[in-house]
Amino acid sequence: MYLQVSGVSKTYNGRVHALRDVGFGLEKGEFVSVIGPSGAGKTTLIRVLNGAEPCDGGEVVFAGVHLERASGRAKRTLQKNLGTIYQDFALVESVSALENVLNAALPDMAFLPAVLGLFGRARREKAAGLLDRVGLGDKLDAPVRDLSGGQKQRVAIARALMRDPAMLLADEPVASLDPVTGRQILELLKDIQQTEGLTVLMNSHNLALAQTFSDRLIGLRDGAVVYDGPVDRASEQVLAAIYGEGDG
Ligand SMILES: Nc1ncnc2c1ncn2[C@@H]1O[C@H](COP(=O)(O)OP(=O)(O)O)[C@@H](O)[C@H]1O
Ligand SMILES: [Mg+2]
Repeated sequence: MYLQVSGVSKTYNGRVHALRDVGFGLEKGEFVSVIGPSGAGKTTLIRVLNGAEPCDGGEVVFAGVHLERASGRAKRTLQKNLGTIYQDFALVESVSALENVLNAALPDMAFLPAVLGLFGRARREKAAGLLDRVGLGDKLDAPVRDLSGGQKQRVAIARALMRDPAMLLADEPVASLDPVTGRQILELLKDIQQTEGLTVLMNSHNLALAQTFSDRLIGLRDGAVVYDGPVDRASEQVLAAIYGEGDG
């Protein structure tokens, strides 16, 4: 397995069980969606995977490296290999699309060039190329605040690609967008995943979109995996377990 999650639990304030004994594996190149209602633990799962949040127990092994045992350099290498995009884009609104993409390179730069913003020609060309790849070749210098929601998510995708990640984590990437724009963004994500051979783990509360773009679905409910299988076998019974009333 390329990514193996085993027995991962996460509690907030010792009370809220956001993740309960979560386990699943991902093969390299898969596009998998985690579906489930609000509060199911989807965001917590992504935050645990990208190292933003420690988990209470369990194991995450990514490309042969144990996330929780890795320290210093190994952890930074892991994080470089995981790009994340968010529902709210998490961009710097006041600066240009190009600068937002370039900023992703800061952790890889020496102190002084980083502080002075001396990215160099190679990085600038790479960032411009990525913006062109996501369809924003004519918006390099546009302040992000002047872009539409769909364009902002395109900038965020370019930023995530700047460090050549092996895997993309996407937390409700189209939940803030209208349906047509959301579809276009997922088509772009899918195209990049297939041409670059990336592995994608996407959170979504939109079952129809997840079914359209994913190879496999993982259903979360109250922090526990209640389904892990093909999109077309997510029967009504399974969907009731994920979304339904009662004890599922
Ligand atoms: N920082 C936090 N502090 C306390 N509780 C949190 C925090 N983040 C999330 N939770 C709780 O953890 C559970 C899972 O939340 P979350 O991972 O955001 O789910 P989802 O993304 O599926 O909506 C919810 O009950 C939520 O209220
Ligand atoms: Mg969430």
